[in-house]
Amino acid sequence: MRPSVLVTRATFPDIADRLREHFEVTANAADTVWTPAELIAQLQGKQGVMSTGSERIDAALLDACPALKAVCNVGVGYNNVDVAACTARGVLVTNTPDVLTETTADFGFALMLATARRITESERFVRRGEWQKTGIYDQMVGNDVHGATLGILGMGRIGQAIARRAALGFDMQVIYHNRSPLAPEAEARVHARYVDKATLLKEADHLILVLPYSPAAHHAIGAAELAQMKPTATLTNIARGGIVDDEALAQALRQGTIAAAGLDVFEGEPRIHPDLLTVPNVVLTPHIGSASVSTRRAMAALTVDNLIAALGRGPRAGQPPTPVNPQVLQQ
Ligand code: DGY
Repeated sequence: MRPSVLVTRATFPDIADRLREHFEVTANAADTVWTPAELIAQLQGKQGVMSTGSERIDAALLDACPALKAVCNVGVGYNNVDVAACTARGVLVTNTPDVLTETTADFGFALMLATARRITESERFVRRGEWQKTGIYDQMVGNDVHGATLGILGMGRIGQAIARRAALGFDMQVIYHNRSPLAPEAEARVHARYVDKATLLKEADHLILVLPYSPAAHHAIGAAELAQMKPTATLTNIARGGIVDDEALAQALRQGTIAAAGLDVFEGEPRIHPDLLTVPNVVLTPHIGSASVSTRRAMAALTVDNLIAALGRGPRAGQPPTPVNPQVLQQ
């Protein structure tokens, strides 16, 4: 009998067809976000799941779905999955690194530019019909990105791709902080200099967050950190909600502690802290860092490759390309 898999959100039809060559597939045609109870009900008897950040895969769910053997997550981040609980139960977890690096770096840069140069605020101003009040020196003036100091918190693949853009394309000085510094050759390749977190906060004209979420990273940027930044600085978060204390940030934006923020991710998204909706100097986007057609296709295709191999099918049976907990494969 062919294994059964669940696809939790709508995906590209031709990519879903590849799954049908190997599995009995149940797909969420309505593309709604299932409640935990609905997800558990849908997962009964399924050996694999193609999941997204919308679903929480935790110990309670795993215990309620004993047939589950592979959780193949669409996304490089997998903080929606309790990996330790999966590993303890012999459930393989996979993610989609690499295929989204450059697209997400493009987006981070775009969001930083939009934030520093007040692009969405300017657009709202034009749409409100307020452009008649021209002021050459004070109307929608922002802060330069070229030649400025970029601070990067987190220096994985996406951080390095942003650093290259900044140094080579925008003549920026790039400083970064990470759990550990890059090797000297890697640092030289991306033209970046390691500093401690306090220096990063103090010296960055534009600070961008690209670190993975972990309990240790919860509210890594809160009131105390924002107070250390320049009043002209911007903050861009393309990492994960919960890394920034959204309430403290809204207050800092209102009080002019920093100049502006660009946020693609939010604690508790898709809900957004109401204070962020009422401050003008913030650019808000709905978690679209990797959302180009070709990259979203590549992420879905890699997830399907992982699922097929994880459940012992296809040419790479038993060797999924991007496992998160490869030790499960040895068990
Ligand atoms: C990722 O790949 O982690 C993106 O944030 C999409 O979830």
